[in-house]
Amino acid sequence: MIPGLRQIRDFVQHELAYETTGHDYTHIERVVRLAQLILKTEPADEQLVLTAAYLHDVADDKVTTNPAAKRKAITAKLKEVGHDDAFIKQVFEIIDNMSYSANLKRHHQLSIEGQIVQDADRLDAIGAIGIARTFYFGGHFGEIMYNPRMMPRKNMDKSEYRKRGTVINHFYEKLLKLKDQLNTETAKEIAAHRQQVMLDFLSEFVDEWNGLK
Ligand code: ADP
Ligand code: NI
Repeated sequence: MIPGLRQIRDFVQHELAYETTGHDYTHIERVVRLAQLILKTEPADEQLVLTAAYLHDVADDKVTTNPAAKRKAITAKLKEVGHDDAFIKQVFEIIDNMSYSANLKRHHQLSIEGQIVQDADRLDAIGAIGIARTFYFGGHFGEIMYNPRMMPRKNMDKSEYRKRGTVINHFYEKLLKLKDQLNTETAKEIAAHRQQVMLDFLSEFVDEWNGLK
């Protein structure tokens, strides 16, 4: 194992132990596995990719009420395992700019390492796991599953969404679009199948809803 990575993994496992919106430690493990898969075909700095993959959700405002404190904790942990300021800067550059929401206002050009972590994170938002996480997240924030009269909306902010969004609409507003926003060829190949899984699910869901099947 890459030096320092075990301590970072243990730190993240502890940080996300009680997370219940779909960004728990098992999400991190899946993102790390997907990043390792992409690394097989995409030459990049493995240490930076895996470190950022482990840390990418720890200071996110979805999982903590105090992102500033979490950023300090991340910095302290990276220093403790021996990383220099330049490496730490690269890690934050990735985790601050990779999210879908960070890229809504303006597109951030990520390093190749950032592109790999972003692809891995996005792959975990689609397909069968993506379906499961979306319902889990929606339940946590009190969204209803579906309402045929509620159309997908554009430009709705997060707090409004949590009051008026539906889980099914989230697929049309975001998840089905992710496949066209991937960086690497490997991720695009994996996404093609996962996209079909979501499309099949949505069509089945609506048929069952309407009592057609
Ligand atoms: P970002 O990549 O911008 O950080 P999120 O972390 O908010 O995006 O999204 C991660 C996953 O959380 C999504 O793929 C989805 O499964 C779930 N999610 C986010 N927002 C919603 C929502 N409004 N309704 C249902 N699920 C959501
Ligand atoms: Ni994530």
